[in-house]
Amino acid sequence: MESRPAFPPGLLDTLATARHIAVLTGAGISAESGIPTFRDAQTGLWAQYDPQELATPWALRQNPGLVWSWYEWRRSLVRKAKPNPGHRALVELEDLVPHFTLITQNVDGLHQAAGSRHVIELHGNIMRTRCADCGRQVKTWEPPPKGQVPACPHCHGVLRPDVVFFGEPLPSEALEKALEAAIHCDVMLVVGTSAVVEPAASLPRYALQAGASVVEVNPQETPLSPLVHYRLAQPAGHVLPALVQTLKERLARLQGGR
Ligand code: OAD
Repeated sequence: MESRPAFPPGLLDTLATARHIAVLTGAGISAESGIPTFRDAQTGLWAQYDPQELATPWALRQNPGLVWSWYEWRRSLVRKAKPNPGHRALVELEDLVPHFTLITQNVDGLHQAAGSRHVIELHGNIMRTRCADCGRQVKTWEPPPKGQVPACPHCHGVLRPDVVFFGEPLPSEALEKALEAAIHCDVMLVVGTSAVVEPAASLPRYALQAGASVVEVNPQETPLSPLVHYRLAQPAGHVLPALVQTLKERLARLQGGR
């Protein structure tokens, strides 16, 4: 059997006594499901594509066909992807604490596919489509002529993925719930995010200010790393299942009075 990683002193006690654990995830948790991250050197999407040309309201106005086809390509990756042990460990963690909040910057829906019940999606969901003009969510549309964008069946406006582009506000209800969790949690796990995109990047900082313990799970250092209480510098798909299993054993011992 693969050996379990050694965890920093105090981490297991901190998790075992927490009443409310919040988790913030980013693209890194889905990397082991085959979905490229954004900022990893070489393999990250933004190392190969210009976000200004593909993920802004300006790009959608200037070149809707290009934007639509790029997101169609990303949708094809998401359709093929399956949740990995990191996603599944967070499903188990949800059952171990009285209050659990899962906040994600990911648009791939893999937390829900793994079985997480209450996922706060800060940046939308790539598999949903809405009209850029009338705002309605749309499930079916007429296939467009090659290279063109399908039209909204209600108003003939331009259809777009229901994700947040750079320069757009986040869905307000999701952001409010995320802020609420950041301020009230005892522990925040920050998994697989470069922690540079606002406002998500500020959530762990609010948690720290409010007195929570913050745990970062990321093989690479980030601007958040010097501030956190615990760092697990390993891939999420390896370290999260081991962490949750060890926590389960710790809780079972505590309940057994040993
Ligand atoms: P990034 O690509 O910026 O960061 C991914 C992080 O995951 C990096 O810090 C990696 O070191 C780490 N990582 C890679 N593999 C990992 C693994 N197996 N386990 C754990 N960590 C791993 O992605 P995000 O921080 O999610 O926004 O990016 C934030 C936002 O920027 C995205 O939601 C997206 C993007 O532009 C929108 O599309 C609105």
